[in-house]
Amino acid sequence: MAKQGLFITFEGPEGSGKSTHSKLLCEFLRRKSVRVLHTREPGGTVISEKIRKILLDPENKRMDVITEMLLYMAARSQIVKQKILPALKQGKVVVCDRFLDATLAYQGYAGGLDIKLIEDIGRLATGGLAPDLTFLLDIDSEQGLARAGNVKDRMERKSLTFHRSVRKGYLRIAKKEPARVKVMSAVGEIDETQENIRKIALRLCRSKI
Ligand code: TMP
Repeated sequence: MAKQGLFITFEGPEGSGKSTHSKLLCEFLRRKSVRVLHTREPGGTVISEKIRKILLDPENKRMDVITEMLLYMAARSQIVKQKILPALKQGKVVVCDRFLDATLAYQGYAGGLDIKLIEDIGRLATGGLAPDLTFLLDIDSEQGLARAGNVKDRMERKSLTFHRSVRKGYLRIAKKEPARVKVMSAVGEIDETQENIRKIALRLCRSKI
């Protein structure tokens, strides 16, 4: 059976403005009478938000990268089943801040875990669900971390070298899957970037739902 609805994700390194852009896109689509579910990862359900707190708590300095990856996947499995799949079944457009690409970039390319292993566990967590479209908001790591502000969570406190690898990882994913992953500059004018995001998203909405 063909998948109903449309699944759009936003990705990017720290401070890339993905949440701002995803929120603006959702507002725009709602004005066009598109039914939208806007959510985020890790989070979006009571259980996944609790897992998010553990993941981002700066006190959890000793968290091992495998523990970290499995917790992101656990949060994902819950939101996929509890929120994303039901919304897609209702024919909605689901806009999610981050998804499996984030695990590939952060725990894989930057954290050193095997990419194939993440893809395999990812299939278990997502049931094979993949985004139809992904916007990758790209920004230089130093600039992004500066934008992210002074109160840093556990992930933001990782080294600049780690965050540079995250960015490189994301760009590798985009190179591998150019039809799905659209790289957008996160440093230009917000309005201009948002305009491009809207055009691409609306075109896909019109062709698919
Ligand atoms: P956010 O602050 O952008 O909502 O994301 C939370 C942090 O978690 C951010 O630093 C990216 C990180 N993250 C991973 O490391 N792996 C993942 O799978 C996800 C979804 C997020």
